[in-house]
Amino acid sequence: MKKHLLRLALKVLHLLQPEQAHNLAIWFLKLRIFSTKIISSHKKLKVQFCNINLPNPIGLAAGFDKNAEVLPGLFSLGFGFIEVGAVTPHPQKGNKKPRIFRLREDQAVINRLGFNNLGMHQIIHKLSTYKGDGKIGLNVGVNRTSSNKILDYVSVLNYSSSAVDFLTINVSSPNTEGLRNLQSKQDLIKLVKEVMRSDVVIKDHKPILLKIAPELNDEELKSIISICGNYGISGIIATNTTTKRPNLKSSHYKQTGGLSGKPLFNISNTILAKLYYLSDGKIPLIGVGGVFSGQDAYKKICLGASVVQLYTALTYQGPTVVKKIITELKYLLEEDGYENISEAVGSKNLTYLMEETDRSIFG
Ligand SMILES: Cc1cc2nc3c(=O)[nH]c(=O)nc-3n(C[C@H](O)[C@H](O)[C@H](O)COP(=O)(O)O)c2cc1C
Repeated sequence: MKKHLLRLALKVLHLLQPEQAHNLAIWFLKLRIFSTKIISSHKKLKVQFCNINLPNPIGLAAGFDKNAEVLPGLFSLGFGFIEVGAVTPHPQKGNKKPRIFRLREDQAVINRLGFNNLGMHQIIHKLSTYKGDGKIGLNVGVNRTSSNKILDYVSVLNYSSSAVDFLTINVSSPNTEGLRNLQSKQDLIKLVKEVMRSDVVIKDHKPILLKIAPELNDEELKSIISICGNYGISGIIATNTTTKRPNLKSSHYKQTGGLSGKPLFNISNTILAKLYYLSDGKIPLIGVGGVFSGQDAYKKICLGASVVQLYTALTYQGPTVVKKIITELKYLLEEDGYENISEAVGSKNLTYLMEETDRSIFG
């Protein structure tokens, strides 16, 4: 699609309410209107993450393609991997509308969707019909009315089997009551023990990732790292949206929900850098939160992310954002003399922690 038509399509989308715009974007993606026909693989960008070979380290974060409706259209934008979901055992409608707010002046979004999705049976069936070779993760959540949250996660894991390349235990959405409490030591151990007994781990050997909130303190991060190490969690996604409201300009700043986009960048970077430092770089990390450019993606990689994800930038910059980030990343790697992106992982971790944080992590 020609550049000026893309720009026009983006303008039209921004005239609509955010959720209507999202639905229209999904429709465009179904029709493959947005295909940017890029070569998204390059030897500098090829990366292995949790034993999964990826053509590039830029992934689509969970929440955009909740129901696995538009995988070919999204891969055609250049994404190296896509995380579908969150999926819950039973279909659910989520919270009352309006529940997504554009904070244009802040290049941010607040959402309180509440895991609206078609449920595991439909979504996993849909995933099994995907014939491409793109790598796919499944973000797993719980039903709002569930009386046993752990059982909800395990039900989805057991049902999903080989339809996906990795699974994410989402204990960090701020829009389902009580979910974030599962990050506490005792609850997380209980959850992880059950998760690691599921078929998808024992029989299918799929990597399990944990997606965490950006509000965790140093002690909580230490406990999460030790639980991941002790029970065989393959990696951590840092981070989900924040309930903080850091100096926002938009009038929507008071809306309840999780904030994503630019104001989340520094907040999630600090969590990411601390995780890398505390785990001695031994736990593979996905950096997510406020990635809008190749520089942003590269920063997360230098702080310790093996790969990155984005969501909000896609809604502000449109479908060419992936192509732009990939081009910028190649240039940045060239400039720093790296043969492959994996060489840059964690390269600026200590400098960042010393210069840009309160150094609490050093004890
Ligand atoms: C509308 C919306 C829906 C989301 N839904 C989910 C979800 O279902 N599961 C999840 O783990 N994260 C979800 N997220 C969080 C994103 O995956 C990501 O962690 C967050 O938006 C930060 O990245 P960004 O700043 O690039 O958007 C959602 C984000 C948005 C904006």
